[in-house]
Amino acid sequence: MSLLAFFFLFLINSSLAANTNIYNVQNYGAKSDGKTDSSKAFLNAWAAACASTSPATINVPSGKYLIHNAYFNGQTCKSKAVTIHIDGTLLAPSDYNVIGNDENWIKFEKVNGISIYGGTFDGQGAALWACKKSNNKKCPDGDYGIDFLQLKQHYNEWSNHGCHNVKLQGMKVLAQGNSKNTDGIHVKLSSGVSIVNSQIGTGDDCVSIGPGTSNLWIEGIACGPGHGISIGSSGWKEQELGVQNVTIKTVTFTGTTNGVRVKTWARPSNGFVRNILFQHIVMVNVQNPIIIDQNYCPNHDESCPQQSSGIKISDVTYQDIHGTSATKVAVKLDCSTTNPCSGIVLEDLNLSYQNQQTEASCVNARGRVSGLQKPTNCLLKN
Ligand SMILES: *[C@@H]1O[C@H](CO)[C@@H](O)[C@H](O)[C@H]1NC(C)=O
Ligand SMILES: *[C@@H]1O[C@H](CO)[C@@H](O)[C@H](O)[C@H]1NC(C)=O
Repeated sequence: MSLLAFFFLFLINSSLAANTNIYNVQNYGAKSDGKTDSSKAFLNAWAAACASTSPATINVPSGKYLIHNAYFNGQTCKSKAVTIHIDGTLLAPSDYNVIGNDENWIKFEKVNGISIYGGTFDGQGAALWACKKSNNKKCPDGDYGIDFLQLKQHYNEWSNHGCHNVKLQGMKVLAQGNSKNTDGIHVKLSSGVSIVNSQIGTGDDCVSIGPGTSNLWIEGIACGPGHGISIGSSGWKEQELGVQNVTIKTVTFTGTTNGVRVKTWARPSNGFVRNILFQHIVMVNVQNPIIIDQNYCPNHDESCPQQSSGIKISDVTYQDIHGTSATKVAVKLDCSTTNPCSGIVLEDLNLSYQNQQTEASCVNARGRVSGLQKPTNCLLKN
């Protein structure tokens, strides 16, 4: 929901206050001392708000609330509009073993018409990141910080997974640059998601876009540190949903390993990536500003499939991409031998490396160019 909608909602709520039920988590036993386990209190406040037949607001006053395994299920909610208004901080347990082997820290499942405003979610990841960095085999995998799944689709059906019509706005997602596997926001099996005006700095992808994503809009993002914004990795499975209609615009990448990336495993697959627009992008010292990698294999070891990717990449437009590359090759389009990329459009690229010219490298990539081409075009004609 947009900020405008927020104010709108707020005005409606205050003018019709009698119709909005307020549930303060402290009235359900939550303590703002950062030590007392407040999980049950949050779940009880949720159950009460859910049971309301009118719009309901859960208030989380300032202070720190220790919670874990907070799974908010909306399947039986009567209220069609639950708002969670957070002034305080939700704190994960400081011992990462408590939740580190779970799938989620906080989960929203089968919810419809939910809005969450404000607040800090502190996953207390630093100790786990240090554990992973030390190559200690006993570190747990870690879990999703906040997971939204199975949001309601049309006709009262729950989708098998994924979310529909979700807006993430004004977020700050922060993890250390050297923290392993800390994707900022991961979207998959979802449509109509937008992520706008946010700052994301992580040890992995700022945003990663998985199979089954369509109609995704990303705008106004500052990304770094991290691995950039990635479509993929796709094509691990032979039967896989595609990614289509993704717009990524007005993004600044600072000191990231990649800027805008499409990555697929070199394996057979029926998946695809199509109708993608990257527009008005600024690169600041980015190692691979523009990259398509259809031979993705992060560990570069004998486990690499080394086949040919079955993912078909088509109609990907790069428009007004400028700034600095941290390496000489600023554009790298490494497409599949059996499924060459087609319909690639390069328009107004101005990428430099240490005040010198950059280079482009193309393999099996077809398309057209217009406007400024720095580096020099390497595409084959469509
Ligand atoms: C593409 O996605 C945008 C939202 O990101 C949506 O407004 C638009 O209608 C979609 N286009 C098609 C052809 O589905
Ligand atoms: C390309 O970028 C360089 C460095 O930022 C700038 O000086 C130059 O004017 C740009 N060229 C064009 C045609 O925009």
